[in-house]
Amino acid sequence: MTESYIEIPDNSKGYNLDMFCVPKHYEQYLDSVLIPHGVISDRTERLARNIVKDMGEDELVVLCVLKGGYKFCADLLDYIKALNRNSERSIRMSVDFIRLKSYENDKSSGDIRVIGIDSLSTLAGKNVLIVEDIVDTGRTMKKLLKVVNENSPKSVQVCSLLVKRGKNEYRPAYIGFEVPDKFVVGYALDYNEYFRDLNHICIINDEGKKKFAV
Ligand code: IMP
Repeated sequence: MTESYIEIPDNSKGYNLDMFCVPKHYEQYLDSVLIPHGVISDRTERLARNIVKDMGEDELVVLCVLKGGYKFCADLLDYIKALNRNSERSIRMSVDFIRLKSYENDKSSGDIRVIGIDSLSTLAGKNVLIVEDIVDTGRTMKKLLKVVNENSPKSVQVCSLLVKRGKNEYRPAYIGFEVPDKFVVGYALDYNEYFRDLNHICIINDEGKKKFAV
């Protein structure tokens, strides 16, 4: 499988906020719209098609990484379901939702704890698709893959809506967009829990970083 994605260049200015509908309460804290919601949807539809084409007939266990991945995962699954309804070949799916917690007192191993799922042992022998919002350094995903692989799945693939350009230690098989190394929010991606209620993927400005700092 060759890696393919939409590349948003470093010098992209995005779109002027006035050209789109953005909640009033966020307007002054955003720099620009980087990826409008409609483009996210259309790209997600194509990712769904690529996944269904590659997956064969076996049952798929989808692991949605909360909280940031919830919108993307829900929309991706809607597109996969539409393909399942409308073609001769369909894949059976189950969905689980996980959250990742760092082990606070174990900095040396840097392991993570997966919470929200009863037992990861149910993944044994299954084709697993991990759905994530963004891969930055890739360290989180590498740690999650280590934990998932310890449970003997038949296969594991990762689908991430975004990958930040530059320093990734891990690159998923399925990528929506490669974006500049800036902090992005919206479409469930947050800055200290804010901006999840924004449809488009936007670049936060310095005022926003200050306003919503913890
Ligand atoms: P990594 O381990 O460096 O790949 O970081 C991945 C995690 O950091 C993601 O799952 C997000 O929760 C968070 N993250 C990294 N960059 C951004 C961003 O630009 N916006 C929102 N969350 C981000």
